[in-house]
Amino acid sequence: MSTDSNNSNPLQSLEEWEEFVEGRYPEPAQGFTPERDAAAFRDYENTARSSVREFYRLNHRYQCVDFVRAKREEFLGLSRERMSIWEAMEFLNTLVDDSDPDTDLTQIEHLLQTAEAIRQDGHPRWFILTGLIHDLGKILCLWGEPQWAVVGDTFPVGCAFSDKIVFPEFFAENPDNAVPAYSTSDGIYEPGAGLDRVLLSWGHDEYMYHVCKDYLPEPALYMIRYHSFYAAHREGAYEHLMNGHDKEMFAWVRAFNPYDLYSKSPVRPDVAQLKPFYQSLIDEYFPAKLAW
Ligand SMILES: [Fe+2]
Ligand SMILES: [Fe+2]
Repeated sequence: MSTDSNNSNPLQSLEEWEEFVEGRYPEPAQGFTPERDAAAFRDYENTARSSVREFYRLNHRYQCVDFVRAKREEFLGLSRERMSIWEAMEFLNTLVDDSDPDTDLTQIEHLLQTAEAIRQDGHPRWFILTGLIHDLGKILCLWGEPQWAVVGDTFPVGCAFSDKIVFPEFFAENPDNAVPAYSTSDGIYEPGAGLDRVLLSWGHDEYMYHVCKDYLPEPALYMIRYHSFYAAHREGAYEHLMNGHDKEMFAWVRAFNPYDLYSKSPVRPDVAQLKPFYQSLIDEYFPAKLAW
């Protein structure tokens, strides 16, 4: 994705999206209130870099019901590779983009920073492991998937797009607008159907959930599957599609979010020194090889 600035990959690196999200959703501890800051957030979106705007334009234009169904069909058979978790981390590390190797952290370093922040706060071992692996689905990029189909805030398709999603104006170009059944607030879903029945826009979250779903406790699976569903976990949208269990489990998604967004630091973690701890943690939950 680096040298050819082909327009399906407008971001310099996947981190460019994450930096945008971090600024768009400041830490609640800093006095953020959704009502007071709504105008500030609109300004923030309006002044976003053109690469980020273009990324969202593509994401909101092309993530529709047919696209999501096709990608689920293409990838959720998990028939591409058999790799261990650590091999997948090393594979993700081969992602070459326009980030600066001298100053920017590698993908493995990012994963370790998230996990270490969780570990330092004394959380259970499965929670630390979730921090380590939650973004491994970004390997989709290495199989040729465009950035807008790997990262980005996720949202339901098959029902009306919430105006709580960033850059809602870019949904104007989404083909699902022409399908009346997809345009009501419940769309193709029963009210309160539960998120498990709802198609979310396709990306690294849903893919990684399917890779892990037999191995981790349920709160970890919610964290992985919904960590980019900002309209729900930060803005409270789409509650009408959730069931009671989703609402309870979203407390975990919210507990995870600060580590995902605010654990970044310019200090490089010592990968060789940390590896034994993390390898034993991986072995505690995962088989030697997993289907990807
Ligand atoms: Fe992520
Ligand atoms: Fe992340």
